[in-house]
Amino acid sequence: MTAERQPTTPKAGGTGKPKGKKAAKAAKREPAGGGKAGGPRESPGGASGAGGNEGETRTKPDGFHTRQTHGRRGLRRFTLVVRPPLPGAGVKPTAPSGFTVHGRRPNLAPESAYEKQLVLASQDNENLADLLWADARFAVDEAAEHALFFSMMMPPELAAEQKRQAQAFHERYTRLWQHLDARGPPAESELRSYVRSIQEETQPFLDFTDELHHGQLTGKLQSLASPMFFDHTRKETDRALVRLEQIAGGQAAPDRDEAIRFGAAVMEEHGRMLAQLLDPDEMEVIEKALSESKRFRAYLPEASTPGLDEVTSAAEGILDFKTDLARKVESARVRSALNPILADHMRREALKLIDELQRCKD
Ligand SMILES: [Fe+2]
Repeated sequence: MTAERQPTTPKAGGTGKPKGKKAAKAAKREPAGGGKAGGPRESPGGASGAGGNEGETRTKPDGFHTRQTHGRRGLRRFTLVVRPPLPGAGVKPTAPSGFTVHGRRPNLAPESAYEKQLVLASQDNENLADLLWADARFAVDEAAEHALFFSMMMPPELAAEQKRQAQAFHERYTRLWQHLDARGPPAESELRSYVRSIQEETQPFLDFTDELHHGQLTGKLQSLASPMFFDHTRKETDRALVRLEQIAGGQAAPDRDEAIRFGAAVMEEHGRMLAQLLDPDEMEVIEKALSESKRFRAYLPEASTPGLDEVTSAAEGILDFKTDLARKVESARVRSALNPILADHMRREALKLIDELQRCKD
């Protein structure tokens, strides 16, 4: 019985064409993946490094670099498009007086290109302009990354327009973050207008997030993100904006019970989201993620008010788990569909929660 053969990629040496010509053609094909029109950027710091065939890295003009992996016979097996470090990632920020840099390792430079260090007002700094600047930077950076995650989870075959919009939001908030970062804390007289301008900037993205959430819930959108992912990010941004209003209104420390409830709800969802993004074979890590989630679930019922120390201890526990996971995902010691940028993003959210809880202490 002879099955009808479909055309397949010919093996090396099996086409009758001279090998030399084929190799020259393959070399000309680089760079692959043609960057999008109108958005060329220089790759920060260049991406050269590994030479030769295996793991060869070439700089691309649109801000990405392409790593080609070759099989034993020199055929290209796959092309991995690697994002360059995001603004603020992989570099140790300089903290102005009254601020503290929070990294994975105290007082040390980032351990990888994915680690973003957080600049927060020092614990004894209750200056409203300083607090507002730190929280505004955090909120806008979060929005920029949320937009990036949406784009990553939006296959062009299924949601090309939504992907384009998500990319545009990512670029818009990256520019805004850079502007806020360079400008430094606002003047005491402009706290409210400062918050208003951030609210106006982020509202279109919140509306967009609602649309995506509704689309994914109703099946009109077929992205790779769950409805909960959209809803979760929306709640994070909403809450960040509320906190900005509180600071501008003179409230230096968060409301204790609200901070506990919000933090517990976010961490509870993070545990489940991480479990869902891990490779199903990573059963031990999945169970750990779910047990972290379960720990926070106990703090959610309105009837009970968990102690600040207890929740802080739980937050430190999930921070350790997320830091370890981020390292292992980056180095492929844990298999997953979790992008290292998202892993570090969730790590920073645990860090920010701990900072807030410490501010709630009398
Ligand atoms: Fe987030």
